[in-house]
Amino acid sequence: MVKILILGTGSMAESHAIAFKAAPGATVVAAVETDAARRTAFGKKHGITNLFADLDAAIEWGQFDAAANVTPDAVHYDTTMKLLAAGKHVFCEKPLATDYPHALVMAEEAEAKGVINMVNLTYRNSPALQKARELVAAGRIGSIRHVEASYLQSWLVGKQWGDWRTESRWLWRLSEEHGSKGVLGDIGVHIVDFASFGADSDITTVDSRLKTFHKAEGDQIGEYKLDANDSAIMMAEFANGAIGTITATRFATGHANDLTLQLFGTEGALKVMTDGRTSSLEICVGPDIDTQTWKPVECPPVVTTYERFVQACNTGINGDPSFRRAAEIQRILDMCFDQDVVRKKIG
Ligand SMILES: NC(=O)c1ccc[n+]([C@@H]2O[C@H](COP(=O)([O-])OP(=O)(O)OC[C@H]3O[C@@H](n4cnc5c(N)ncnc54)[C@H](O)[C@@H]3O)[C@@H](O)[C@H]2O)c1
Repeated sequence: MVKILILGTGSMAESHAIAFKAAPGATVVAAVETDAARRTAFGKKHGITNLFADLDAAIEWGQFDAAANVTPDAVHYDTTMKLLAAGKHVFCEKPLATDYPHALVMAEEAEAKGVINMVNLTYRNSPALQKARELVAAGRIGSIRHVEASYLQSWLVGKQWGDWRTESRWLWRLSEEHGSKGVLGDIGVHIVDFASFGADSDITTVDSRLKTFHKAEGDQIGEYKLDANDSAIMMAEFANGAIGTITATRFATGHANDLTLQLFGTEGALKVMTDGRTSSLEICVGPDIDTQTWKPVECPPVVTTYERFVQACNTGINGDPSFRRAAEIQRILDMCFDQDVVRKKIG
């Protein structure tokens, strides 16, 4: 039975608490949260009595095997390195770090310590994505030639999640000074992993274009300078020889949270769709190619990232997505940010 500590008890920690309490072979024994009110409320709600105000005190107490790191992005590196130094298994939220060099150090350290290290790329929990990869690996659509992947949100147009003009929880996501790397940093990590995992191939290189739109007078609201990217486009080259486009935007009216992946091969095509709650898969193969007919594919339920982490801790065999995989995704994102800096410099 793996004893889990939850580090950071904000909104995403709710999902971790529910998932780990329900996972066979795991028990949630403690939580760490710097905000006293949030810490107390979380402990009460989830029946957790070992509560700490900082990670050092929890490590000194030591009565846990693994930690779920659900702190803000910029906090992942320092806290995970402390957990690794203490020999704990770590399940870290995405993005693993704020850039590739830090993510790589985390991966190397976790491997050197021989502990379980995984990242919560939640869209791996889509049955349709897992099934698509299986079909690609089995050669069902031949060699992949072209990939089209998009992650579409619309909270800069609609108010389905609140009003970004007045709520700080949205405004900080539009401001680099407040730690945001825009739409690419926020959901780009998901769609790059989604595309590459589904295509069963690493991405070798990308050419990108990031765009920050004019959204308010002086491009500023209160203390928030609105300078982070709102839309991102990547042209990608895959290790399997395919090319493709990967896009992410917060301006996709009509889409609250939709991920789509189309894989076009020499012998057919697959279309994966998910909104994070349900997913679907369609295939166009054989005689259907000539009539452009898509047929639904049955997708069995999948073992979630949370359950796979618990299994990995209990078996001692690392699970996927690992820190190494997350670092690789970060390498692709960094390429986009670097290209953006160069483009801005040369005008
Ligand atoms: N996988 C997904 O689909 C998904 C979805 C949403 C968020 N996330 C990720 O989850 C992480 C947390 O996001 P959130 O929306 O829950 O943020 P949040 O701000 O709601 O919660 C973070 C919590 O961590 C606490 N914290 C900060 N520093 C700490 C420290 N040193 N020790 C202990 N607690 C500390 C904060 O006080 C806060 O309560 C982020 O990295 C985010 O990218 C992932």
